[in-house]
Amino acid sequence: MPTKRIEMSDDQFTKLAKIIYDRSGIHFPDAKKYILESRLTNRLGELEVEDFDQYIALLSMGPYQQDEFQEMFNRITINETSFFRNDAQLEIFETRVLPHLLETRATTKRLRIWSAACSTGDEPYTLAIQIHRSLGVRLADWNIEILGTDISQKALDVAMSGEYTSYAVRTTPPNIIKRYFKEDGRSFVLSPEIQRMVNFEKHNLKDRLAAKRHGTWDVIFCRNVLIYFDDAMKNQVIGMFHDQLAEDGALFIGHSERIKDMGNKFEQVPLPQGFCYAKSGHTGLLAA
Ligand SMILES: C[S@@+](CC[C@H](N)C(=O)[O-])C[C@H]1O[C@@H](n2cnc3c(N)ncnc32)[C@H](O)[C@@H]1O
Repeated sequence: MPTKRIEMSDDQFTKLAKIIYDRSGIHFPDAKKYILESRLTNRLGELEVEDFDQYIALLSMGPYQQDEFQEMFNRITINETSFFRNDAQLEIFETRVLPHLLETRATTKRLRIWSAACSTGDEPYTLAIQIHRSLGVRLADWNIEILGTDISQKALDVAMSGEYTSYAVRTTPPNIIKRYFKEDGRSFVLSPEIQRMVNFEKHNLKDRLAAKRHGTWDVIFCRNVLIYFDDAMKNQVIGMFHDQLAEDGALFIGHSERIKDMGNKFEQVPLPQGFCYAKSGHTGLLAA
């Protein structure tokens, strides 16, 4: 039975939006009050909490606070994604960035890729497929680390299952589906050889310390999440990526997102298919 709508007052919205922002950097403008209200109404019903004042109190103290934050992020985040999302960027990755890194890391044979805010894992798995088909038998000689992180545990659970609906592969070329998925009529199961190439971990992009612990990455993908942040949070995240990216590494953000007015840490690398970002002063390496 659908839960009866629980109304959120403007004051409750302001408090809740601040709590969410302080924790995650996700910015809910006033116009999105109805989204918060509708996404959390069911949760209040499940908790048998009468109104948003009680829910805010629960988030502000008490032994279940951490768990409730997790539940809340599972519900309020938008996890839209798909395999092989945005061709042009993926082509830049496979035909420009990857060959450059394979050449410059030929001695260490170590490559580290971070898919930050990866939702259900479609993006890091796509990168794994691209690396798999590019390297072929040479893959065995390389130590390739691909990490997918997200704030939503629910999304990560799907990622770790490796099982997807047809919606997830809607932008995937048929030959890739045939080669890397097993279709069982109900779902598309990703081949274990690709699943093994990617690890997943919960990570909040606000958590700079946790990002530091992961060390330096050769490539960072963080697509279609900056749009949910305000300028202060965007700056914070871009600064963190700058700290965690190798000097000659590449950063990909959503194709309609831009790093501008965010200091001069990154520059666009113009390429025939579009662009990616490199640390300022290092664009020549990728554009060459
Ligand atoms: C629209 S999806 C993008 C998925 C994928 N990067 C893509 O472009 O297809 C945005 C993801 O950002 C995650 N997210 C939002 N705020 C976050 C934060 N503070 N830390 C980590 N992940 C966050 C959401 O849970 C969601 O899965």
